[in-house]
Amino acid sequence: MKNILVTGSVGQIGSELTLELRKRYGNDNVVAGINRTLPTGELAETGPYEKVDTTNIDDIKAVIEKYKIDTVYHLAAVLSAVGEQKPGLAWDIGVNGLYNVLELAREFNLAVFFPSSIGAFGPTTPLDNTPQDTIQRPTSMYGVTKVTGEMLCDYYHLRFGIDTRGVRYPGIISNVTLPGGGTTDYAVEIYYEAIKNRKYTCPLGKGTFLDMMYMPDAIDAAIDLMEADPGKLKHRNAFNITAMSLDPETVAAEIKKHMPDFKLDYDVDSVKQNIANSWPNSMDDSCAREEWGWDPKFDLAAMTEDMLKVIGEKHAKGQL
Ligand code: SER
Repeated sequence: MKNILVTGSVGQIGSELTLELRKRYGNDNVVAGINRTLPTGELAETGPYEKVDTTNIDDIKAVIEKYKIDTVYHLAAVLSAVGEQKPGLAWDIGVNGLYNVLELAREFNLAVFFPSSIGAFGPTTPLDNTPQDTIQRPTSMYGVTKVTGEMLCDYYHLRFGIDTRGVRYPGIISNVTLPGGGTTDYAVEIYYEAIKNRKYTCPLGKGTFLDMMYMPDAIDAAIDLMEADPGKLKHRNAFNITAMSLDPETVAAEIKKHMPDFKLDYDVDSVKQNIANSWPNSMDDSCAREEWGWDPKFDLAAMTEDMLKVIGEKHAKGQL
């Protein structure tokens, strides 16, 4: 039986991944690591939660010892747009936090999942059909922390035999917890604004293509990779994964199929636009497909139908 710690468990991915891990491995075996924000609802009620400031190694160690943790899903991070406002914080949480987790992985023989990102690429990367192994010179602090994280995870595996694994997530679209300060956040906000106001003003310009994925696929990716046969993993860390390549017009056109009066306009945020311009338009995820069977279930049509249904129901109940 696994004993799992999820850091960043109240974040966009953590809040849903923690619940899915509890369903699969048992409520009491999955500890929600929290820092400043207290968990609410199902996350607080279904299993244990503990304060884990990942920049403080003693915090993490105490929880590992108390719950005999053997696996860490290390999600605590600062997203890309906030990272440009607070580069020191992005580095501290993104790199020093991971270093602490990896040092404890040596001491307690932990398996570690680390999410890298499309942000690990930069303007000199081939941006169409971006290969698994290619040029990585990101120009955002978020990207710098993600490339460093990828390399640290490789190093701890090669040097110390730690079972590190990870993916490069694209923008994740979800309807439970809002992302906070990422470049791809528009692809979440557009659905909420469609339901609430039937219009959306997008901070990324027309024709800005980026990889995206619906949350159920993002969660399956993390768990499936951690369950994969290690003998088949040639890469282990930083697998490119994607489900769709979208620009704002394409998302809006799909929403209009359900809501013909939906309107999209633009007010470009230069910080986010510069970051988006330096990220892939579409990644090649064939290594993930070959090495551990990555196969996303949701395309744009299925995701849009589900997003509008779930957010529409929340709106009707006055929960937005
Ligand atoms: N969603 C992230 C961001 O925009 C990318 O991994 O910062």
